[in-house]
Amino acid sequence: MAEVTFRKVEKVYSNGFKAVNGIDLHIADGEFMVIVGPSGCAKSTTLRMLAGLETVSGGEIYIGDKIVNNLAPKARGIAMVFQNYALYPHMTVRENLAFGLKLGKMPKDYIAQQVNEAAKILELEALLDSLPRQLSGGQAQRVAVGRAIVKKPDVFLFDEPLSNLDAKLRASMRIRISDLHKQLKRSGCPATTVYVTHDQTEAMTMGDRICVMKQGHIMQVDTPDNLYHAPQNMFVAGFIGAPEMNIRPTTIIHKAGALHITIGQDTLPLNASQQEKVARFVDKNVFFGIRPEEVLVSAQPLTVDGAQGTLIRTENMGHEFFLYLAVADIELTARVPADEAKPIIAGGLNCPVWFRFNMEKCHLFDAESERNIYL
Ligand SMILES: Nc1ncnc2c1ncn2[C@@H]1O[C@H](COP(=O)(O)OP(=O)(O)OP(=O)(O)O)[C@@H](O)[C@H]1O
Ligand SMILES: [Mg+2]
Repeated sequence: MAEVTFRKVEKVYSNGFKAVNGIDLHIADGEFMVIVGPSGCAKSTTLRMLAGLETVSGGEIYIGDKIVNNLAPKARGIAMVFQNYALYPHMTVRENLAFGLKLGKMPKDYIAQQVNEAAKILELEALLDSLPRQLSGGQAQRVAVGRAIVKKPDVFLFDEPLSNLDAKLRASMRIRISDLHKQLKRSGCPATTVYVTHDQTEAMTMGDRICVMKQGHIMQVDTPDNLYHAPQNMFVAGFIGAPEMNIRPTTIIHKAGALHITIGQDTLPLNASQQEKVARFVDKNVFFGIRPEEVLVSAQPLTVDGAQGTLIRTENMGHEFFLYLAVADIELTARVPADEAKPIIAGGLNCPVWFRFNMEKCHLFDAESERNIYL
C-alpha cells in the first residue's frame, strides 16, 4: 500500500518565508494526482518535502501508514523525475538506467532485466549505448522516466518533467506517461503518482484528480470534470480552462418576479433552479462567471433574454473563433464554431452584436469570500 497523506503540513524556509500553509491532502494508492498552480505557489516545495529533499516545518507526511518526516529519501520507496532530466553525462543510456540499482547492490541479472524492460516500455532499445549529449530532449526525458521505472517505486514523483520539450513532444510524452501509469495498474503494481505542472492541459488530461494550489494553500482537490464544471471558488474557476472563464462584477436584482443579473444596460434572468441559492445575495455585489463556450453570440438582436455588446477583437483558431465583446465597461470572451462566427464578424469590428448566456452553466461568486454561491 502506498497511499500518501499530508496532515497540516507546513514549510517555513530559513529566511522565515512560509511557503506552505498547513495543507491536508490524501492521495489514494495507485492514484495519479496532479498538483497545479501558478509559479511560486509551492508545488515543488510540496513535492520535495514528500521526496525528503526539503525538511517539513510542521505537520506530518505519511507514505502508507508510516510517518516519513525524518526518513531519508532513499528509504521512502519513491523515484523522482525532474524538469532538467539530471542524467549523468559520461554514462550511456544503459548505465544511466542501471545506476540506481547498482548503487542498491542489486544482482547483475536483475539489473539487466529491469533495464531492458524499461527500455522496451519507453522505446529506448536502440539508444542504450548512446550518451546523453547524443539524445534529443524527448529521448533524454524518456531516459529520466526509465531511471525512475527501474526502481519499481511505490510512489512516482514528477516535477514539471515536460516543460523543456516543444509542444508536440510534450503531447506525446504526456500520453506516454499516462499510458505507463495505466499499464502498471493493469499489471497489478499500481504506482501512486504525484505530478507537478503549471500546464493545465497536462493537469486536465493526466490527473485522476487535481490539486489546485495558490500561495501555499490548497484551493480545491477534485476530478478534472468537477474542477471545470463545479469550481469551488473564483481562483479555480479562473485558473482552469483556456480561454479563461469570464468572471465579471454584477448585481443581483428583482425584476418581473424573478432574479436577474445585470450586465451593461441589460439584465439576464437566472434559472429557476438558481433563484433560491442566490436569494440572500439580492442587491449585493457578486461576480458572475461564464465560460466562453457558453456565451452565445448573434449578428441579429435576440428577442428573448439577450443583451447587446460591441465586437472589438477576433482571433481565428481555424475550427473556431474567439470573439471579444465590449459590454459597457466590461469585456467578454466568446468561443464560437467557425461557421457560426463568420456571419457575426462579417459586420466588422466595432459593430453591435447580441449575446446571451447559457444560464444553466453560469456561476456566481460571493465578492467577499470568492466562494461559488451555487455549491
Ligand atoms: N530555499 C528557499 N528559501 C526561501 N524561499 C524559497 C526557497 N525555495 C522556494 N522559496 C519560495 O517558496 C515559494 C514556493 O516555491 P516553489 O519553488 O515551491 O514554487 P513552485 O510552485 O514550484 O513554482 P514554479 O512553478 O515556478 O516552479 C516561492 O515563493 C519561492 O520563492
Ligand atoms: Mg516548481
